[in-house]
Amino acid sequence: MTLPNTLAVKSWCDDVTEAIGNTPLIKLNRIVADLPCTVYAKLESLNPGLSAKDRIALSMITKAEEEGRLLPGGTVIESTSGNTGFSVAMICAVKGYSCILCTTAKISNEKLTALKALGAIVKVCPTNVKPEDPKSYYSVAKTLHEEIDNSIYLNQYYNLDNTEAHYTGTGPEIWRQTQGTITHYVAACGTGGTLCGTGKYLIEQNPSVKIIGIDAYGSVLQKYHETGKFDQNEIYPYKLEAVGKNIIPDNVDFDIIDRFIKIEDKIAAHRARELAKAEGILVGYSAGAAIEGVLRLKEELTEDNVVVVLFSDHGSKYFGKVFDDEWMQEQGFM
Ligand SMILES: Cc1ncc(COP(=O)(O)O)c(C=O)c1O
Repeated sequence: MTLPNTLAVKSWCDDVTEAIGNTPLIKLNRIVADLPCTVYAKLESLNPGLSAKDRIALSMITKAEEEGRLLPGGTVIESTSGNTGFSVAMICAVKGYSCILCTTAKISNEKLTALKALGAIVKVCPTNVKPEDPKSYYSVAKTLHEEIDNSIYLNQYYNLDNTEAHYTGTGPEIWRQTQGTITHYVAACGTGGTLCGTGKYLIEQNPSVKIIGIDAYGSVLQKYHETGKFDQNEIYPYKLEAVGKNIIPDNVDFDIIDRFIKIEDKIAAHRARELAKAEGILVGYSAGAAIEGVLRLKEELTEDNVVVVLFSDHGSKYFGKVFDDEWMQEQGFM
């Protein structure tokens, strides 16, 4: 049978991994009403695993397969604050790998339940220990990898296939979606992959695009960027999930970042709630920090600027936290 042209184009996915990427760019209206410029949100929450981490999990696992480091029946191990784990577990389920995820006690219950639902084994490690401590989630993942045959430790902080996924995916998508008009790119920085992979592609197209990272109070990134010094005194506990770091990941390319803006836990939580109410966009805690970062650029933005802010994950992952009045009250945020 000869099909008409419109039906001849393949329009299904052979498995869920084919639905990763090509997320929409949505113009923000009410929350940015005081800014003179156009602001678009890149909705990474609409990946099948509900976060940008789908992209890097697929990139890191595919590269390991191609290089023969991951064989059929193998085990994939990762240290993760939740979203990467979800994406890794999702891809392991599709590809038939065992999955062990090491996370910290800061992980929300929703995220923990989701990881287990996808068949992952989850090791919850203490939050306030140094990375080199044998109990830290980094050390536990490394030890498991040494003990288990035919296993790989993805190590998103130091695995440059993380940055690569955004360099080949998120960056070109944003360039295309803004028709090359983007002037500012704003994203939260944890491992650095989302900020720097995308940012690198964008400044290769137009070197004057400003690359702005969102950091947290309690993280070393901003100080390191400004002074080149790793300052232990910058490290203390905070609530914002997956933003900022107590290590310097290889995926943070400090040379391409114009600057970091640190955002407080409380305002980030309120902005995430405001995004849902004002724009109908239900996204996570780090998105609240990212939009607050955009609002703090007000004095330097002009009418012809085009800002793209990346929203890393979906708000449903925080129903027990920032979207829960009781949790907000317990934190003293209300
Ligand atoms: C919700 C959320 N926001 C922001 C980030 C930071 O992204 P990246 O690790 O690419 O710097 C992450 C990473 O884990 C995340 O899960």
